[in-house]
Amino acid sequence: MCGDDPRMIRIALIPGDGVGPEVVREAERVLSACVDAGLARLSTESFPHGADHYLATGETLSERSFERLRDEFDAILLGAVGDPRVPDGRHARDILLGLRMRLDLFINFRPARLRLPELSPLRSADRRPIDFVIFRENTEGLYTGAGRVESAGEPNERAVSEAIATRPGVERIVRAAFEHARSEGLHRVTLGDKANAVPHVYGLWRRVFTEVSQDYPGIEADMQYVDALAMQLVRSPDRFQVIVTSNLLGDILSDLAAEIVGGMGLAPSANLNPGRHALYEPVHGSAPDIAGSGTANPMAAILSAALLLRNAGAAEAADRIDKAVDEALRSGIRTPDVGGESTTAQVGGWIADRVERG
Ligand code: NAD
Ligand code: IPM
Ligand code: MN
Repeated sequence: MCGDDPRMIRIALIPGDGVGPEVVREAERVLSACVDAGLARLSTESFPHGADHYLATGETLSERSFERLRDEFDAILLGAVGDPRVPDGRHARDILLGLRMRLDLFINFRPARLRLPELSPLRSADRRPIDFVIFRENTEGLYTGAGRVESAGEPNERAVSEAIATRPGVERIVRAAFEHARSEGLHRVTLGDKANAVPHVYGLWRRVFTEVSQDYPGIEADMQYVDALAMQLVRSPDRFQVIVTSNLLGDILSDLAAEIVGGMGLAPSANLNPGRHALYEPVHGSAPDIAGSGTANPMAAILSAALLLRNAGAAEAADRIDKAVDEALRSGIRTPDVGGESTTAQVGGWIADRVERG
């Protein structure tokens, strides 16, 4: 990319709660290293939204911030939201689910690749490569908030949460999964559903999946009940290439996927509406059990920043980060979750240094 003038990427940072600010700080250092190496041009601005801000002001995500995030940035990088002081998680829903829904970020792209066989808890991991991606539907399902509680507190209390699936909503995520398979030269897309027990919603998913798959004749359209799929992810993870599924099922499968390739500390994600808006974040949460200890693994946040750079056109910077993470893992520059003794800042600093030096 030498000699090119890379486009300015405007990044909004929402460090959030718990380990969020700790890992976003390291992602920022790695982004700065890309700038110093001449691989990217970018500006960053930090937003205060999270539990502290909510508890101090009563504000979850202000309208003004929402409009700015929507209109003034190319991408958002979020750490994590969720804090034991806000037990109902209201601010987290307004901020994270609010941005996903209101920016119509219908693709939650969650890749899982085993970087080193020893990182997997699976017995067979030394023999088989694991490399697949989950396309999690991100705007519908059980996450819209639709529902009600009747007779609250009474013996006959009844709570209803409605799962919503629309044909356009299902079609666009299924098509995105097949398009990804086609563009990456992959030959199988697996639908994870529960049509046997939940026929209305997942019957629609199966019909739409079957219809869309007709447009992709070289790609096997594989449908699996999600319980059996979870079993297969442990038994034969190498058979998966692209998994497409609904919002809640994708949430669960993506933690399982992260764990079989080394854990939550390594799993990045992208919330996308291609060509319009994007929000990048680690798959993990605010990890209150380790917040403040300096041991959080920053790699998931750093790899989320790499996804951001790749989608924003700075592929060489993204490649360099990806390689530096592999090298750090091989060299034992690891936080305790992946079997090391390094701190969050040591891992981030090492990767930033490696990226800058090339
Ligand atoms: P979590 O992902 O925060 O933690 C699960 C386990 O993984 C914990 O043992 C934690 O220590 C470990 N872990 C997570 N990230 C790690 C990292 N970077 N390095 C090392 N270990 C790591 O899930 P949880 O405990 O169920 O949730 C905590 C809070 O985070 C809740 O409020 C939840 O709602 C929220 N949450 C937010 C997001 C998000 O903002 N995207 C995602 C998941 C959960
Ligand atoms: C995730 C998280 C969120 C989700 C929570 C914090 C609402 O678990 O991004 O995976 O369920 O989507
Ligand atoms: Mn989750």
